[in-house]
Amino acid sequence: MSDTEAGPSNLPQRPSSKARTEPENNADFQTRAYWDKRYALEGDEDFDWFKKYGEVRDVFRTLIPDQSSRILMLGTGNSTLSKDMYVDGFKDITNIDFSTVLVERMRARQPETQWMVMDVRDLASRASELGGIGSWDIVIDKATLDALMATGPGESVWDPSPEVRRNVALEVDGVMSLLKPATGKFIYLTFAQPHFRTPYLSRPGWDLEVKTLESTAGTFPYYLFVMSKR
Ligand SMILES: C[S@@+](CC[C@H](N)C(=O)[O-])C[C@H]1O[C@@H](n2cnc3c(N)ncnc32)[C@H](O)[C@@H]1O
Repeated sequence: MSDTEAGPSNLPQRPSSKARTEPENNADFQTRAYWDKRYALEGDEDFDWFKKYGEVRDVFRTLIPDQSSRILMLGTGNSTLSKDMYVDGFKDITNIDFSTVLVERMRARQPETQWMVMDVRDLASRASELGGIGSWDIVIDKATLDALMATGPGESVWDPSPEVRRNVALEVDGVMSLLKPATGKFIYLTFAQPHFRTPYLSRPGWDLEVKTLESTAGTFPYYLFVMSKR
């Protein structure tokens, strides 16, 4: 993926060598079938859609001062974020992704962190399998909400469909219920400009702050949303 290809509405494109795994329709990014097929075709490799841990480490260390924090990573994929955070001292990390193909592979490759097949829309309904509501210090989403909000032909990024809004609300409300009161934080990294995301992340139960992550010369910035539970 080239940073310069990041657009305001959909996930950035992968390099041309990965063209065979690109979806025919961007809305495919919302489906488990698409991700299972993609991971089966791609084989055993690491890939970050954007911003590797080294680029956000300082911000993360400030936002998460306690290295024993219980951290839940949503839609981990084959990103190195989880592994790199573990190496940097964060030892209590649980990764979820709805692709069984991906989770089975990553569990074998990265057994030092926990892996579960789970849909982010089921966080509240499956909270007991995650230790219960109000039990997480930190929840991280890097580009997964972006997959839920990917728009297909004829759909508008300015006006997501009722189904997309419902899916996003399921994830965000689920995160809200899982976070510890008063101290829990939801950290979300996205390529999308804040006005495309803020309306769907705002809740009376947390304070929302957006940081701009400047990119290297000539590329688009990325954004880091921090939702701090009240
Ligand atoms: C764009 S990739 C981002 C991967 C990784 N977080 C990164 O930054 O490179 C989106 C990931 O979220 C997963 N995903 C998409 N929708 C999901 C859902 N509803 N529930 C759980 N995982 C989902 C996909 O399988 C994929 O691994």
